[in-house]
Amino acid sequence: MKLEAFPPVKGKHNLENYEELYQHFKWDQAEKDFSWHQTGKVNLAYEAIDRHAENYRANKVALHYFHPSRKETYTFKDLKKFSNKAGNVLKDVGKVNKGDRVFIFMPRSPELYFALLGAIKLGAIVGPLFEAFMEDAVKDRLHDSEAKVIITTPELVNRIPHTELPALETIFIVGENIQEDNKTKDFLHHFQTASTDLDIEWVDRKDGLILHYTSGSTGKPKGVLHVHNAMIQHYQTAKWVLDLQEDDVYWCTADPGWVTGTSYGIFGPWLTGSTNVVAGGRFSPDIWYKTIETFGVTVWYSAPTSFRMLMAAGAEVTEKYTLSSLRHILSVGEPLNPEVIRWGFDVFGHRIHDTWWMTETGAQLICNLPCMDIKLGSMGKPLPGIEAVILDDDGNILPPNQMGNLAIKKGWPSMMYTIWNNEEKFNSYFQHDQWYVSGDSAYLDEEGYFWFQGRVDDVIMTAGERVGPFEVESKLIEFPAVAEAGVIGKPDPIRGEIIKAFIALVDGYEKTDQLKEEIRLFVKTGLAAHAAPREIEFCEKLPKTRSGKIMRRVLKAWELGLPTGDLSTMED
Ligand code: WT7
Repeated sequence: MKLEAFPPVKGKHNLENYEELYQHFKWDQAEKDFSWHQTGKVNLAYEAIDRHAENYRANKVALHYFHPSRKETYTFKDLKKFSNKAGNVLKDVGKVNKGDRVFIFMPRSPELYFALLGAIKLGAIVGPLFEAFMEDAVKDRLHDSEAKVIITTPELVNRIPHTELPALETIFIVGENIQEDNKTKDFLHHFQTASTDLDIEWVDRKDGLILHYTSGSTGKPKGVLHVHNAMIQHYQTAKWVLDLQEDDVYWCTADPGWVTGTSYGIFGPWLTGSTNVVAGGRFSPDIWYKTIETFGVTVWYSAPTSFRMLMAAGAEVTEKYTLSSLRHILSVGEPLNPEVIRWGFDVFGHRIHDTWWMTETGAQLICNLPCMDIKLGSMGKPLPGIEAVILDDDGNILPPNQMGNLAIKKGWPSMMYTIWNNEEKFNSYFQHDQWYVSGDSAYLDEEGYFWFQGRVDDVIMTAGERVGPFEVESKLIEFPAVAEAGVIGKPDPIRGEIIKAFIALVDGYEKTDQLKEEIRLFVKTGLAAHAAPREIEFCEKLPKTRSGKIMRRVLKAWELGLPTGDLSTMED
């Protein structure tokens, strides 16, 4: 079958000659732009903010914040000042030192960005938490990381079970008239009086920067630790892949609770001195298009699920807005459907560029660059400095057109430094010493393009968010009526996958729709809205192995009407 190829617009991108650069590029070439060449010490927040505040970009807009009830603009000079103030509050009131874990649990607001940058300036390790997390999800993450300080809002503070978190010393609340006690502090009150001067903590490149918790197929969420060294790749990919140039207005739609919202919502754009748009509030096609129109967004990074929702809203909505400022559009999180690329080309007049990476990889690895032909449905090619292969289960490199495990040669700059408190888990990603094995299956074609096929494990990707089935199952069985639960991802045209739970009830409970509703609400309020099963099916018994493991692949085969495969390990 002949695949459609979408040709590039030539002649004005940061990277024009992919093949040639791929042959010669070494990562240390990207380091020369940073100050550590003189000092040996580094701080990402200095490189992202203060460096520009001290040069010709001082009065350039760094942040346009856009919310239905709040619109503000900050220059690089402003961001330097306000992140210094936030750093002083964290240091003086919160006693934050280098290496301490500082969590940030709040919706997107300018204060989130001040606090995150301020904490990094102190050499602390930041832990951003998505605002939808409920008590158990918050507790697991603060407990595992032994967080010392958290910054939150009055609406979210009750989800922090501080009596069960002995390491947690200070809770800063960003809001009006906050009652202080020895643990709870009024962030804005201290912020107002804090000094605008702060001594930056200069750290080593291998010192901790950020912890992102992510789901696997078994066990609790794991804390992926990234270090300051990752900025080399945040910076370089913001140039190559986002193609950011001096006059661009860039908008990444992701929340900093997920890695896209930090690597490409904070670090990449600001390391390159770009104007960054942050939109708060809920998803709405009108507000999104309005955001593009209002700020004249030129470079836009979002996710397949959002594009599909915009597509479903219809072309009439786009016609109400002027979207002609756009020049470069990108996507991440799940496979980008050819249909979405065709739609994007129709309504925006531009190709949507798929990018592949993971929380663990810290930055983009396999991408459709602006200078390349796009093959619809392919993730693109590995970036210069990245060696990607397809391995069989024994670690042999497979030739083109054979499906196998997508793996990357170890040692790119933004590779996770470790899994917090779990060296064993960290080591399990690496095979034969040199390959990072991603957990995705894919194949490579003769022209060097990679094609995503699926997850090797049972991890669910729903609306661009990774959900571990085990975490949802564990929550489900806490509900009194639930005896056993098996959770799978079920294909969905908008969300990629939705979460479906198969549940065996405790004897005596009736299988009613009301009970399904109660169960759904229980997960929603206990774990997170995006982790609650959209579909529940009651069954008498779940398929299990003889050792008692729920066979999710069998549930999935039932659901999709596919053959169940080898059932030799299934109990009678
Ligand atoms: C998993 C990682 C990195 C930020 C977004 C998600 C899937 C990611 C693509 C893509 C197909 C993709 C993979 C990967 N994924 N990008 N372009 N095409 N699948 O980060 O939560 O760490 O999830 O997302 O399955 O392993 P994450």
